[in-house]
Amino acid sequence: MERARRTRSLLQHLLVVVLTAVCLGQSLTGGVPWVPEVLGCLAFLAWYAWGTVRRRQRPTWLIVLTVIWLLLVALSPDNVWISFALWLLAGLYLSLPAATAYSIVVLAVVIGGPWLATGSLPVPSALGPAIGAVFALVVARGHAQLVRDSVERQRLLDSLVSAQTETEALHAELAAAQRAAGAQDERTRLSRDIHDTLAQGFSSIVLLSRAGRSADEQGLRDLVAQIETTAADGLSQAREIVAALAPSDLAEAGLPAALTRLAEALREQTGIDAQVRTDGDITGVPTAIEVALLRTAQGALANVRSHAQASRAVLSLSGSRDEVRLDIVDDGVGFDPTAAIAANPSTGGYGLRAARTRLRELGGALDIVSAPGEGTTLSAHIPLGSVP
Ligand SMILES: Nc1ncnc2c1ncn2[C@@H]1O[C@H](COP(=O)(O)OP(=O)(O)OP(=O)(O)O)[C@@H](O)[C@H]1O
Ligand SMILES: [Mg+2]
Repeated sequence: MERARRTRSLLQHLLVVVLTAVCLGQSLTGGVPWVPEVLGCLAFLAWYAWGTVRRRQRPTWLIVLTVIWLLLVALSPDNVWISFALWLLAGLYLSLPAATAYSIVVLAVVIGGPWLATGSLPVPSALGPAIGAVFALVVARGHAQLVRDSVERQRLLDSLVSAQTETEALHAELAAAQRAAGAQDERTRLSRDIHDTLAQGFSSIVLLSRAGRSADEQGLRDLVAQIETTAADGLSQAREIVAALAPSDLAEAGLPAALTRLAEALREQTGIDAQVRTDGDITGVPTAIEVALLRTAQGALANVRSHAQASRAVLSLSGSRDEVRLDIVDDGVGFDPTAAIAANPSTGGYGLRAARTRLRELGGALDIVSAPGEGTTLSAHIPLGSVP
């Protein structure tokens, strides 16, 4: 559109210069004194050029331009032809009513001048300028409308782009907030584990040691035995917590093998027919994603064990170029996922929420499809590329 506008401006300047030159030539050959004619034409062009560069106060500028033109017409009737340029400028820079009124006045001068001078008005002499005026006005208005439309289109486009940028920024903020909430959840889980296991053990050991100050020899032996048992429990609990943070199964054998071990344990301990299926390429998956999927599987199988009353559970791990997916399906009693997710965490319902948060932290999601009596399908999926 900018190019069209530049071309139109160029044509407009050319038209003004050519018309002025033609009028100048005609006037001079018609015997008009050349000094005022040349000075008048130069003044007209100079004022025109100043207005097009300055681009402000167009109506006032056009009125002054018209006054110079009127002086030129008074000097020589041949100068009327510049009026075509004036009609064009009026159509471009004035409102439609103002441009119409202005064009009529200029037309009156163009037609009226020769009429007054000769006392007659042949039809072609009136019709020609009238058609010229209408034509110039229509062309100028059409172009002005085109420019307005394109400016409006650009404004709409700009506001769409800025709305999209805002939405993206909001998404990024939301994702960051979810990640922060996920990290907070992990800290809460860790502090709960430490409080329930290690802190209890240490406080028992402190109490047992204090009791030892006033105990006899036999009592001391009993206390040392109790302290040893408590410390051994604490040690194994500490190992469990550390193992939960960095699952050794994964490091040693990879996700499919770790899932197979989970399924075997479920089968041996409950008799549920648990199977693992793999599909596609699941090599080179980042450890953070493998850990998240393993934790999801552990939580899901713990649910199958405690809530589902299932006879069969299948874990399907599949990988593509873009994402890794783990589906855990059981044929148990099913449940209403919406109610379960909304449940108060203090009375259970922590597992699914935690899994969902963990997956979201990596840009993934957890879909739950279940209904009472219909079994349960959990689908955990994480896009590759979200984690380095
Ligand atoms: N496979 C399933 N079959 C039937 N019901 C299920 C299954 N998985 C989850 N549920 C239902 O959804 C609820 C929420 O599960 P979630 O794992 O979030 O919490 P939870 O198992 O009750 O407690 P925890 O925080 O120890 O995991 C469960 O209490 C259970 O009623
Ligand atoms: Mg659970």
